[in-house]
Amino acid sequence: MPVFSALDRVAATPSLDSVIAWAERPLAGLPRAVRDGLHGVWLGHPLHPALAQAPIGLWTSAAVLDLLAATRPPGDSRDQAEDAAGVLIALGLAAAPLAAASGATDWSRLDRPRQRVGLVHAALNTAGIALSVASLVSRRRGRSGLARALSLAGAGASGLAAGVGGHLSYRHAAGANHAPDVPAELPAGAVDLPAGTAPSSPASSGDPSGEDPRGELDGGVPWTAVSGVTELQELRPARGLLGDLPVAVVVREGRVHVLADSCSHLGGPLSEGHLEDGCLVCPWHGSAFRLEDGSVRHGPATAAQPALEARMRNGIVEARLLTLTPR
Ligand code: FES
Repeated sequence: MPVFSALDRVAATPSLDSVIAWAERPLAGLPRAVRDGLHGVWLGHPLHPALAQAPIGLWTSAAVLDLLAATRPPGDSRDQAEDAAGVLIALGLAAAPLAAASGATDWSRLDRPRQRVGLVHAALNTAGIALSVASLVSRRRGRSGLARALSLAGAGASGLAAGVGGHLSYRHAAGANHAPDVPAELPAGAVDLPAGTAPSSPASSGDPSGEDPRGELDGGVPWTAVSGVTELQELRPARGLLGDLPVAVVVREGRVHVLADSCSHLGGPLSEGHLEDGCLVCPWHGSAFRLEDGSVRHGPATAAQPALEARMRNGIVEARLLTLTPR
């Protein structure tokens, strides 16, 4: 059985859910600006993986130096390697709190199965930090053999934690962009074409009648009607379909806005969310996306929500994608 399959069983085991509920409470109470900063909204990317590299790299380097020291006879060369390892461990400990804070903030906005795996990640990281602290203390007390062993154990625990964190990201898609690949899912023709290939007039559509079968052309990109919108009221998000793509439709100050429905954080239904300061707020974890362009105003999402150009025509909402933005 693959080694990491055990983590998938952890994801389905609710026995530690009371611990999770206890641990996530203070994180939910952090000011929104602090949470946004720690999520990485300002960066447009989750901050935690970027920060986590520092302590892991420093502790791994320290472990290599300690291994090197163990191969040297007592003397200056061994002392220097051990001293350098001590400095690296201390630097790793200085970098760890911010990395832990950003990871914990992301974790507090995951669903329970992902949080259970995240708890294993956090426990291993805590062990790695404790072992590194113990190594540093032993080093200061002149117990170099024990210090080296603790340093290796700490780097090992942190490396395992990083592996679990990777599994959480790759297998369980925590931190991944869950927004749909809109250009691929839109009906044929409802997306901007590469420069020079967009039809410039209905006649170029190939339809012998001279009318483009996909709808009216305007700037080379046809409008497509959004179907399934039953009740459209000002400031009340509604769900519709653009071809097969679920979209959230919002009317605000007489303007219609269309965003992909599936939230970029974890796929929550934005059409069931609410409006706040010109943003559509996800009902699951509160990410706020600007109606104008889908950019993130508040996390936990850090990836923009695909936004389409929209208009109301004869009581029908129409949309199209004019700009291909990277996902
Ligand atoms: S699914 Fe988490 S904020 Fe939308």
